[in-house]
Amino acid sequence: MPVVSRALESRWHQRKSVLNFMAAMENAVHAKSYSNIFMTYLKPEDISQLFDWGETNPHLQQLLAYIVGYYEALDRLVYQRNYGSRERAPFAFDQALWQAMTASVFLESCLFYSGFYYPLYFYGQGRLMQAGEIINLILRDESIHGLYIGNLAQERYRQFPPQLQTALYNWAVELLDRLYQEEAALAAELYDPVGLSADVQIFLRYNANKALMNLGFDPLYPSEAVNPVVLNGLNTQTKTMDNFSMKGNGYQKIRSEALQDEDFVFHRTRVSP
Ligand SMILES: [Fe+2]
Repeated sequence: MPVVSRALESRWHQRKSVLNFMAAMENAVHAKSYSNIFMTYLKPEDISQLFDWGETNPHLQQLLAYIVGYYEALDRLVYQRNYGSRERAPFAFDQALWQAMTASVFLESCLFYSGFYYPLYFYGQGRLMQAGEIINLILRDESIHGLYIGNLAQERYRQFPPQLQTALYNWAVELLDRLYQEEAALAAELYDPVGLSADVQIFLRYNANKALMNLGFDPLYPSEAVNPVVLNGLNTQTKTMDNFSMKGNGYQKIRSEALQDEDFVFHRTRVSP
């Protein structure tokens, strides 16, 4: 988010502020929430082990390298634009920006989700409710992030000449496929022991299609039925606050009535001296 934000020209200050707000959600709210879940279920040594696992898992590291590579490529061009030579091939900057946005959409609309499968699987069955509620709230943010960046990407894409559009589309499909292969292998590693990896891979294809649609492209993977329990957990509609169970993530809405001109006519009674 910060890389995409600083790549936008200053006239897009409102978009920059939206992106910076989204970055703050990621860093301050989501990251803290994951830690909160970890701290609830795991001992500190288990948590360190988990971090070590992440840092050494080849699939996770490969996914990271793919995505971050496009952010870094864009960042180098941002630096050049701001402090170096302004000469560059036509569309080179916009192309790098579009690629970084596309990588971001693939991350936020697709890759994140297979990790959410397990908590959603329980949450949809009324178990691990508090962790599920946190994940559900994070998903509510993520779905908007993917849509918003996807929209910005579509706007750039429309400005490219047709030949470049075709080349970039092919690049995106190829990147998505590489990400898909890694993520499917990671899902197998994680979900085979609980017998869910085939289900998770269906979910992964479902989310890959959603990511493509966020970028304005047609879905490429077959449309398959996702486990309804998980779809239920995925539902991010606002739930009304219930006073007795203290559950819910929304505000109680009042019944309201539109103001009328007559509401401002005040009849003052005169008090005689
Ligand atoms: Fe996000």
